[in-house]
Amino acid sequence: MITPVILCGGAGTRLWPLSRKGFPKQFTRLVGERSLFSASAERLSGADYKPPVVVTGSDFRFIVVEQLMEAGIEPGVVLIEPEPRNTAPAVLAAALHLATDVPDALMLVAPSDHSISDAAAFRLTVQSGVDAARDGRIVTFGIAPTRPETGYGWLELEGAATPVAPLRRFVEKPDAARAEAMLAAGNFLWNAGIFLFTARTIIEAFKAHAPGLFEPVRAAVAGAKPDLGFLRLAPEPWAGVPSISVDYAVMERAANMSVVPFSGSWTDLGGWDAVADEMGVDASGNSQSGTATALDCRNTLLRSDSDGLELVGIGLDDIFAIAMKDAVLVAHRSRAQDVKLAVAALTAKG
Ligand code: GDD
Ligand code: MG
Repeated sequence: MITPVILCGGAGTRLWPLSRKGFPKQFTRLVGERSLFSASAERLSGADYKPPVVVTGSDFRFIVVEQLMEAGIEPGVVLIEPEPRNTAPAVLAAALHLATDVPDALMLVAPSDHSISDAAAFRLTVQSGVDAARDGRIVTFGIAPTRPETGYGWLELEGAATPVAPLRRFVEKPDAARAEAMLAAGNFLWNAGIFLFTARTIIEAFKAHAPGLFEPVRAAVAGAKPDLGFLRLAPEPWAGVPSISVDYAVMERAANMSVVPFSGSWTDLGGWDAVADEMGVDASGNSQSGTATALDCRNTLLRSDSDGLELVGIGLDDIFAIAMKDAVLVAHRSRAQDVKLAVAALTAKG
């Protein structure tokens, strides 16, 4: 049995104004009927899976339980971080928690900001990595790259992309020139951001590659206190935990890595450009939600996320407009990744 570890403590600022501090993108209905978080949890449920360990912030604890219940999933453990410290501490805390009872617990770390349309195919792909993970490998999942993306990690294959291939190198968020070179080289896959390993394997990897992080996270887990069915990590040691992603802290440094290619559709809904693609485009390249109308527009995303709020664009090219009851974003399509600047500017204004 595999324990899903779902990370959902990110802020999702590139999807403002839909994604908010108190209600980030993973909990919203960005595309389809389900939130990304509940779809992630549902994808990793069923015969091969134990109830999930969810790692999140205090503000999101009730949303997590509500959305799991709605999806008919028994909440396993909800670990609460006193402050967000990026993904490395979240992964280590989950591993240490699981290892208390089962040192070799198999864990599948999954983010909550993805859309994977064929859940059954994805579960089969995960199963093909299980033996390698039990053998002490850190198993990554690879997606065939289609563009020189600088926002992802890249996986260099040692040989052919067999079902479980050894990984030569993990490169997190390369600059544009490196991304171009890796795309051209042909023996790289994108890192899906999903990892399979035993608790023992990843704990050893943290000890070896991120010793400065290990001790405060260990203390925060050892001092964790139950609180209304949640497990709250101890704030004092957590305050001394460095903020770093698991990709930089461990994946770029570890040697015992493997990759399982995943050929199903996979989308990281990181920005409005990806959401537009996922919503579907008409012949002129426009994506629209129900109460938005594009007249003589090309390559726009017009989205009204408030009931009854009409949004009309006329003669626009390459523009995103997202209207909420209390906030409107209008941006050039090429600046999709800069939407986080809006959040920074508004936060600075107070
Ligand atoms: N609990 C918790 N605490 N979760 C967090 C935190 C935190 O402090 N920070 C981020 N997360 C969650 C996010 O909500 C998201 O679901 C997941 O962890 C991944 O974090 P991102 O910040 O979205 O990572 P990324 O997209 O920049 O990069 C990762 O994913 C890419 C694929 O989507 C990396 O693994 C890349 O290598 C990978 O290609
Ligand atoms: Mg992401």
